[in-house]
Amino acid sequence: MKKALLVGADSKIGSQIELILEGLGKEFIGTSRDSAICFQKGRVHLDLSQDLSEWEIPENIDTVFFCACVSSLKFCRLNPISSNFVNVTNTLFLIRRFSERNIHTVFPSTSMVFDGTTPNNKIKGKTNPLTVYGKQKLQVEDCLKKLPRTSIVRLSKVLGNEVELFGDWVKKLNDCRTIHTFADLRISPIPLEFAARFMVSVAQNRYFGTFHAGGNKDVSYYEISTEIAEKLGVNPALVKKSTAKNAGIPQSEIPRNTTLDTTSSYSLLRMWSPDVWETINAIVK
Ligand SMILES: NC(=O)c1ccc[n+]([C@@H]2O[C@H](COP(=O)([O-])OP(=O)(O)OC[C@H]3O[C@@H](n4cnc5c(N)ncnc54)[C@H](OP(=O)(O)O)[C@@H]3O)[C@@H](O)[C@H]2O)c1
Repeated sequence: MKKALLVGADSKIGSQIELILEGLGKEFIGTSRDSAICFQKGRVHLDLSQDLSEWEIPENIDTVFFCACVSSLKFCRLNPISSNFVNVTNTLFLIRRFSERNIHTVFPSTSMVFDGTTPNNKIKGKTNPLTVYGKQKLQVEDCLKKLPRTSIVRLSKVLGNEVELFGDWVKKLNDCRTIHTFADLRISPIPLEFAARFMVSVAQNRYFGTFHAGGNKDVSYYEISTEIAEKLGVNPALVKKSTAKNAGIPQSEIPRNTTLDTTSSYSLLRMWSPDVWETINAIVK
């Protein structure tokens, strides 16, 4: 990798990739849609909601991490046209241009390209996204598969070093206040550092194709909250079961399974994700 472009450098995953590239002493440049941030941090301006016909690829780039995206399921559902323009139209417009210039693009996709009816979905397993966000990701995937020098990295839920929701639970439980947590919403999380390192490794090795990175099992938000209550040593009765369904979240956004078959990807990259409970316990100290 000579010089990388981080599209959406201030995203959760993009920021972590930036740290890894810095640590490796790699040359890179990031993009932001915020002009003030571009000025402060020396980023290139790029707004995927605008016309990009005049946008120029910075010089000497040979690798792109495409982290910019409208990633809220709810926002995509409520704004299918504007989110499609960012997540599909302009994303593909740029990746096609990168590909024409022989630039390798690493594109983070999602376990939500599957419908969640079965666990451990295989890389070549049948896709059937139920959410607007998942459908947009699959549309990009389908085009990328026909382009040279592209890598699709399907990720399960990525948890940063701090998760606002968990922090909020800890605060409430420590104040002896009740929390209501979803028993029907499950995740198979991986740590942010792991997800970013996985993507950097795909780029450094020039592995093209589709790859899976995800946690080893699904756990519900209710299970996570009971574990947190136990860890804090508070009264377990403070944790009450609720459901995403009753909270008005559409069934399409409540997958029963989110695990991915990671066997071939992890063995290729010689990476093994931590157990999901290790991932969660590392956040809630
Ligand atoms: N986090 C996860 O659990 C997870 C799981 C699977 C896949 N992924 C995928 O991984 C990628 C990165 O995820 P993330 O969680 O790190 O993202 P994130 O923190 O939600 O950040 C999204 C980024 O996209 C940028 N963005 C949004 N609209 C834009 C526009 N119109 N033009 C330019 N940039 C725009 C945002 O810019 P601002 O900084 O200016 O807001 C932000 O930097 C996404 O493709 C996401 O779908 C994430």
